[in-house]
Amino acid sequence: MASGTAEPQEFLPALRFRRLTPYFDHVVRLTMREATFKRRLLDGLALQPGERVLDVGAGTATLAIELKRRTPGATVVGLDADPDVLALGRAKAAQAGCEVELVEGLSNALPFPDASFDAVVSTLFFHHLDGEAKRTTLRQVRRVLRPGGRLHVGDFTRPADPLQAALNFPVRVFDGFAVTADNVSGGLPHLFAAAGLEDVRERDRLRTAMGTLALWSARRR
Ligand SMILES: C[S@@+](CC[C@H](N)C(=O)[O-])C[C@H]1O[C@@H](n2cnc3c(N)ncnc32)[C@H](O)[C@@H]1O
Repeated sequence: MASGTAEPQEFLPALRFRRLTPYFDHVVRLTMREATFKRRLLDGLALQPGERVLDVGAGTATLAIELKRRTPGATVVGLDADPDVLALGRAKAAQAGCEVELVEGLSNALPFPDASFDAVVSTLFFHHLDGEAKRTTLRQVRRVLRPGGRLHVGDFTRPADPLQAALNFPVRVFDGFAVTADNVSGGLPHLFAAAGLEDVRERDRLRTAMGTLALWSARRR
């Protein structure tokens, strides 16, 4: 999916090369203020018991496990294209004693019925998709949300200053300039609106050692 992707595949793995996947949690924890931005995203989401939530591009299930820990009465489903990262996620969930359903699949063909989730969340994921896949994925997200359902996303945005742009540059080289373009231009929230989502809002912004992250929310009317 990224221009110049090193391995033939339909998705860009967590750290681009599958052999690096076991190091993903360490890298994100050390460089991305992971605990802080995921806590803030979940504070904004305010998931309720009885609700069903989907984590798209769930990776090693860190966010999905935290969702279940915070709201044991909710149903938590995580989707990812990579069976290796899902195996790590399943092991982590079992160790944490958390019941989360982890499904292998592509975000641009979500294997769920229409209006089947109260909320969709996603972190550090959209910058792994090219422009067309971002658009298709967002239409799929809208489809699986019930009317009134909410989307909460955390991902790279336009760098806050030249230092943040310099820190983000290695991410762009590593993951690919094409897939990260909409993020660094600040275009992601416009894509939410273009997919038919409403009340698009930037709720927070954080500087990290890998560039500037934003937290956005939107809603299906
Ligand atoms: C950088 S990781 C983020 C993982 C997790 N959301 C987090 O915050 O720790 C991006 C994930 O997206 C997954 N991915 C990439 N393209 C995908 C697609 N088209 N459909 C589903 N998952 C995809 C990768 O396998 C990877 O696990």
